[in-house]
Amino acid sequence: MKFGFFDDNEKEYVITTPKTPLPWINYLGSNDFFSLYSNTSGGYSFYKDAKLLRLTRYRYNNIPTDNGGKYFYINENGTIWNPGWQPVKAELDSYECRHGLGYSKITSSKNQLEASVTAFVPLNDNCEINQLILTNHSNEKKTFSLFSYIEFCLWNAVDDMTNFQRNLSIGEVEVEDSVIYHKTEYRERRNHYAYFSANEKPDGFDTSRDAFLGSYRGIDHPQVVEQNTSSNSIASGWSPIASHYFNLTLEPGESKGIVFVLGYIENKEEEKWESPGIINKAPAKTVIERYFTDEKVTTALHELKEYWKHLLSNYSVESKEPKLNRMVNIWNQYQCMVTFNMSRSASYFESGTGRGMGFRDSCQDLLGFVHLIPDRARERILDIASTQFEDGSAYHQYQPLTKKGNLDIGSGFNDDPLWLIACVSAYIKETGDFSILAELVPFDNDKTNSATLFEHLKRSLNYTITHLGPHKLPLIGRADWNDCLNLNCFSKEPGESFQTTGPSEGPIAESVFIAGMFVKYGKEYASICHELGDYDEEKRALLAVDEMYDAVLQSGWDGDWFLRAYDAASEKVGSKECSEGQIFIEPQGFCVLAGIGVKEGLAQKALDSVKERLDTKYGIMLLQPAYTKYYLNLGEISSYPPGYKENAGIFCHNNPWVSIAETVIGRGDRAFEIYKKTCPAYLEDISEIHRTEPYVYSQMIAGADAAFHGEAKNSWLTGTAAWTFVNVSQFILGIKPDYKGLIVDPCVPSNFGNYTVKRVFRDAEYFITVKNLDSVQKGVKKIIVDGVEIEGNLIPFEEGKTTYQVTVFMG
Ligand code: BGC
Ligand code: NOJ
Repeated sequence: MKFGFFDDNEKEYVITTPKTPLPWINYLGSNDFFSLYSNTSGGYSFYKDAKLLRLTRYRYNNIPTDNGGKYFYINENGTIWNPGWQPVKAELDSYECRHGLGYSKITSSKNQLEASVTAFVPLNDNCEINQLILTNHSNEKKTFSLFSYIEFCLWNAVDDMTNFQRNLSIGEVEVEDSVIYHKTEYRERRNHYAYFSANEKPDGFDTSRDAFLGSYRGIDHPQVVEQNTSSNSIASGWSPIASHYFNLTLEPGESKGIVFVLGYIENKEEEKWESPGIINKAPAKTVIERYFTDEKVTTALHELKEYWKHLLSNYSVESKEPKLNRMVNIWNQYQCMVTFNMSRSASYFESGTGRGMGFRDSCQDLLGFVHLIPDRARERILDIASTQFEDGSAYHQYQPLTKKGNLDIGSGFNDDPLWLIACVSAYIKETGDFSILAELVPFDNDKTNSATLFEHLKRSLNYTITHLGPHKLPLIGRADWNDCLNLNCFSKEPGESFQTTGPSEGPIAESVFIAGMFVKYGKEYASICHELGDYDEEKRALLAVDEMYDAVLQSGWDGDWFLRAYDAASEKVGSKECSEGQIFIEPQGFCVLAGIGVKEGLAQKALDSVKERLDTKYGIMLLQPAYTKYYLNLGEISSYPPGYKENAGIFCHNNPWVSIAETVIGRGDRAFEIYKKTCPAYLEDISEIHRTEPYVYSQMIAGADAAFHGEAKNSWLTGTAAWTFVNVSQFILGIKPDYKGLIVDPCVPSNFGNYTVKRVFRDAEYFITVKNLDSVQKGVKKIIVDGVEIEGNLIPFEEGKTTYQVTVFMG
């Protein structure tokens, strides 16, 4: 069953009922100001950091769900409704929500009054615009009231939810003309404030939640709206809100627009206010002025659309698979931008108060983003690397506002360091910018202790080399990519989290997955050394890679697949000798994509085992058989009920690893079959089962052991976005950036037909036509660049050349 449809021309997903299985959301904002925006106008806004600078409040675990957002109430002769249906939930005569790239537009109507709200964050200002357009479609004059409503958060979202004894006395607002200023904390020289404005003088306002709602009432029936007039309340403490009230009349056929702006202002040092409590309103007024008319708003929205059009033109495909085209050309890249911006911090499944930017997460997110805005990727790399310690290990997370490592979580995830090599090599291949390696980057954010980025990469590599276990495989530490595989976690006190218990550096538990990573990224590191002409270092790295390769074959192969790990007692994990958890997905995907076992014929065997034991119609499960009880030596993984999350859920993130691995051994049919299984556009028709948004990936789909097999959770913030984009763009469609140019090496289903890719690479445009006349799955017979056949499959990048016409013949 579907709850909407894709409008590819507009690059929008159109939701046709507010009653989606779960809130289906969008992200507004590209740089510093962000909002989560659901199909019923729910969500919240923040500046840079969803925990520390939260502008509007959001209640998690709320019932009904998604209750809280940017609302407009319309009261026409006692009939009260919201354009986004929530929170009043009056039946609407029509409803449509269009989620586009960085904007959402909800249009609905009741009794021939149409209301349409367009919400977006403009490219260059720290604010969210809500443009409301009301149209009278009836033959009679209509008089009605309109109330806007947002609830302010007192900035630090955790404090806001907990420190009531203080917070209920600190709220401060000010109202001037049509602008409501939220000044809480300004007094303490925090020097920032929020405002909510309208471009027209209202007939009244409210800033006290209690006055607006009335006692013992919820946002579904505010007293002020029912009484049809505002109370002009000025909040003092308690819960500040912002609501404008308009009494409006529309002639038949008449339309009227009102522009609301929710903004954030941080006064510069030199603009500091004179006396406590008096804010400098000038910067807010400047922003409000920039969006003061419908025309100005239309222009700003147009600029945003053009911005996205430009970004997406960096990679686009035309094939005979429309669902693939729309994912590659629009939604997958869009989600890569969102995961790059948010890491794992703020979604409808991540509270925005817990996790900031993840080290491994952000490094991987960058793989799917670097082709969009390489400069931002560069800056991010330097931020991430600054949270690395001298010994190569790293803070697992950092706070986006301060960019400092998170002390509560600390370090000890032994895969983290190697992901830095992954993202740096991706960045250099994309841009050719080796200068980044010479940048001085602090250790542990201590500017007095810095080294070049190249040195950071060396420390990453060395960290693995110097942390090997009894089988010469990498020590796993607290966990590797699989956060829940806590092999050194012997004890957990009730209420304690798994990842913060146990020794941060495990005694001997080893990870075959990190071994696969080391082979892959050790080779990447070596190739960087090669490009730099540092052949001794290249040799040293390749030697270590060879040793690791041998260690995997020696101690990491289980007969028909790769072992997952050795636990702290050196017992096998992910082996046919185990009673449960006999085979895991991660080492099969990663070892093969790193090239391990290909020449020995083991790779094919491992991937056949994946198909035989882990595959389902909804995707490949993480492990089988699921753990049915809790194992002290395995940790959190066995704490999940079978079929969910890391305990045999379909963890979408590592499905593309297996798909890539299939391309490594040339099986394009299977690679694409895997791609399609978790791809949201292909799941749109079963939205009642899948339940999350059909335009973005979710972290997990419930596995075969779960009660609700096929049901997805944790949409949006997942490394799946980046890895699937890498898979489909570089390995299936086969256009791969490399140091000296673009490599073309497709691996597609035999009946895939011909296709074209437009790729912008280092400012040059490549128009690539791939012809598969022999219906093969892999192999390139001939490449013609601008009329001339080239040798091999690397199209050399030539400085100064702006277009490349390329025809590729597979066979
Ligand atoms: C795990 C969580 C863990 C999180 C953070 C998830 O996949 O299931 O329990 O806290 O990753 O890294
Ligand atoms: C989600 C985390 O964000 C990611 O870092 C981890 O690799 C996966 N869970 C698997 O545990």
